[in-house]
Amino acid sequence: MSFVTVKHLLKRFDQHTVFEDINFTINQGEFITLLGPSGCGKSTLLRSLAGLHDLDSGEIWVDNKNITAVQPQQRDIGMVFQSYALFPNMTVQENIAFGLKMKKLPGAEIKRQVAKIIELVELSGKERVYPQQLSGGQRQRVALARALVVKPQLLLLDEPLSALDAPIRKNLRQQIKSIQKELNLTTLFVTHDQEEAMILSDRIFLMNKGKIVQQGSAEDIYTQPCNEFVASFMGNYNVLSAPQASQLLGLDIQGKLAIRPESIYVRESGREYAAHISKPTPAIIKNHQLLGNVIRYQVQVKGCEIAVDLLNRSSERLLQPGSKLELLFNLNELQQVS
Ligand SMILES: Nc1ncnc2c1ncn2[C@@H]1O[C@H](COP(=O)(O)OP(=O)(O)OP(=O)(O)O)[C@@H](O)[C@H]1O
Ligand SMILES: [Mg+2]
Repeated sequence: MSFVTVKHLLKRFDQHTVFEDINFTINQGEFITLLGPSGCGKSTLLRSLAGLHDLDSGEIWVDNKNITAVQPQQRDIGMVFQSYALFPNMTVQENIAFGLKMKKLPGAEIKRQVAKIIELVELSGKERVYPQQLSGGQRQRVALARALVVKPQLLLLDEPLSALDAPIRKNLRQQIKSIQKELNLTTLFVTHDQEEAMILSDRIFLMNKGKIVQQGSAEDIYTQPCNEFVASFMGNYNVLSAPQASQLLGLDIQGKLAIRPESIYVRESGREYAAHISKPTPAIIKNHQLLGNVIRYQVQVKGCEIAVDLLNRSSERLLQPGSKLELLFNLNELQQVS
C-alpha cells in the first residue's frame, strides 16, 4: 500500500472552494512536486496536510493511519515555509534544536543530532550565529535543518527557494534533493516553477484552479499533456484549433492539437527525412525571441502563426523577418488535447 493516501479532499473558505476532489498517493521515499500557477491552492493543500487548516471533507492517511483529525504536533510532518519563520532570538543551533527539546530528548543526544544535521546542510561554523546575521539561502537551510532534525515521516516544502536568487536557488535545490535521497524522506515540494519541478521530481502533480489536472513523471506530463492548460503551462506548446490542424496538416481531430516548438524541423536542403515526418510546408519568419540556448521564431505557415524553436548554435544563422523556409512536423509528436 502507498505510504500517503489522500481521498476526496475538499477545502472551502466561507463560500469560496479552494480545492476539491483532491486524490493522490505517494510512495515511501518519493519526491513529489505540487506544481501550479499562483492562487491555485497549493499552499492551502499543504497546510491542510500539515493540519494547519481543517478540511471540509476527505481523508488523509499516512503509514496506514488516518490522520485527518490528528493535531498538527502529533502528525509527525515537517514543514518548511516560503518565508523562513525562524526564531529571531535563538541562534542557529538553538533554532534547529527546538523540535528535539520539545520531544524532551536528553541534552547530549540533542547536541549530537543537531551537529549532524548542521553538517548535512553545510552550516558548520554558523552554530552560534543569529538568523539576522545569515543570508537568505543560509536561513532557508536552517529552516530545512529544523524540519529534518526531528525525522518527520513526511516532509512538506512550500516554495522554500522562491525568495532566493537563481544561482543560490539552483545550488540549494540540488542540496535538498540529495538530502532527501540520503534520508529516504517522503517529500511533497511546492513550486510554480516548471523547470524546478521537472528537475527534482519523481512525479509531478499539476494543479490548476483547485484541482489536480494531471499526475505523472516529468517526461509524461511534458510530452503527453492532457489538456490545453497543461500544454501551455509545461512546454510553450502551440495549441491549434481543429480547423487549423486540418488546414496545416490535413488532420481530422476532435478537440485541439498541441505541438511543441522544438519538435518542428526546419528543412535543410539535401537531408532525407523519415516516414513520420510530414511533407515540407512553406513558411515565413515573422520575428524571433532569444531565450538563451534557444531561439523561438514566430512563423507564418498556411494561415497559422506558430512558434518554432531552434537551438541557438551560432548568431550567424539567425533567420531574419521575411525569410522563407520550410517546416516539417514530426507526426509522432503531435498531441490531441481538450
Ligand atoms: N486563510 C485564508 N482565508 C481565505 N482565503 C484564503 C486563505 N488562504 C488562501 N485563501 C485563498 O485560497 C486560494 C488559494 O490560495 P493558496 O495560498 O493556497 O494558493 P497558492 O497556489 O499557494 O498560490 P501561490 O503560488 O501564490 O503561493 C486563493 O484564492 C486565496 O485567496
Ligand atoms: Mg502558496
